Amino acid sequence: MATPLAAEELARYTTDLQRTPGYPRLRYMGSKYKVVPYLTHLFGGIPFDMALDAFSGSGVVGYALKELGKQVTCNDFLRFPSTVAKAVIENRGVTLAPADVELLLSPNADGRDFIGRTFNGLYFPADDHAFLDAAWSHIDQLPEYKRELALSALCLAAARKQPRGVFTITDVRYDDGRRQMRMPLRELFVEAVAEYNRAVFDNGRVNRAICTDTLQVDPAGYDLVYFDPPYAPPTDDADYIKRYHFLEGLSVYWRGLTIMEETKTKKVTKRFTPFAYKTKVCAALRELFHRFRQSTIVLSYSSNSVPDEHELYNLLRGEKQNVEVYSVPHKYSFGTHEAAQRRDVHEYIFVAR
Ligand SMILES: C[S@@+](CC[C@H](N)C(=O)[O-])C[C@H]1O[C@@H](n2cnc3c(N)ncnc32)[C@H](O)[C@@H]1O
Repeated sequence: MATPLAAEELARYTTDLQRTPGYPRLRYMGSKYKVVPYLTHLFGGIPFDMALDAFSGSGVVGYALKELGKQVTCNDFLRFPSTVAKAVIENRGVTLAPADVELLLSPNADGRDFIGRTFNGLYFPADDHAFLDAAWSHIDQLPEYKRELALSALCLAAARKQPRGVFTITDVRYDDGRRQMRMPLRELFVEAVAEYNRAVFDNGRVNRAICTDTLQVDPAGYDLVYFDPPYAPPTDDADYIKRYHFLEGLSVYWRGLTIMEETKTKKVTKRFTPFAYKTKVCAALRELFHRFRQSTIVLSYSSNSVPDEHELYNLLRGEKQNVEVYSVPHKYSFGTHEAAQRRDVHEYIFVAR
């Protein structure tokens, strides 16, 4: 059994990485911002060159791997995380110039108003919705990477203005006291562009962002795979779409997505993943570990989820000779109710080779 590191001990792990601490911070369920120093410490003890961040989410771990000089592939089956990964992990040097930002802030080029009509009275004031429609009327003119940077900045701006960063709340009057909640989205967008521009760099490698089910990713060629799947809670499900449907829609202007019109939040249909359900997660993890059995596997998992530490260990031992387990305290910054329930949560990090 892993002995949990004390919180003070964890705080002693600082990172030598210069860029990753300034990575544009998207409040994302299960994001690893806080454990990146410890994770990079563990990565430092493993010889590897080609890495897959297989459930990349906010992209912060893939970005840290990029800064470590590795050849990185990021994958997430949602569009907005993979857009972010393309903007800052695959992209080697393209940034948004002042003229691009001016274009994106200019009046609506074709009169589109899908966002204004669909979300009227829900998340943001009408001016903000109008800005999003207008910005999108210019997006398709932008070349690769500029486009992904612009979309990442729009998503970050929208997430920052939304209470707790989740789109389960539709009350426009809700105010959690942050200055971002009172700023126009266009100003938040300009700030976000500056942050994403600063994050762009070339690590001398050919990095990639892909957008598919991890169980479909070709496993060949990775020395190390990092798995941070949704954690299947004992009750409920770990549904990212429920929380981030607006960002997922915004990243593609809802093209190809189905809005569930009967829902108050106007969310899009759920993307099924077996990792989010306690009845399906074990079989999915077994398949995942088998698929990537040629690589060193680093797995993050939460202590109050299914399966437990013992079962995870056995699943990994089914494929790998040597399995080490580390455990770090983890505070979820999610909803007060959830946070209260998860106070004593630990996050396991398994290293299997
Ligand atoms: C715990 S989060 C990853 C957090 C990330 N490591 C970070 O630091 O922000 C899990 C991610 O897995 C993605 N996901 C869930 N099921 C998936 C699947 N079957 N294939 C690919 N991605 C999946 C979700 O969209 C979500 O972004």
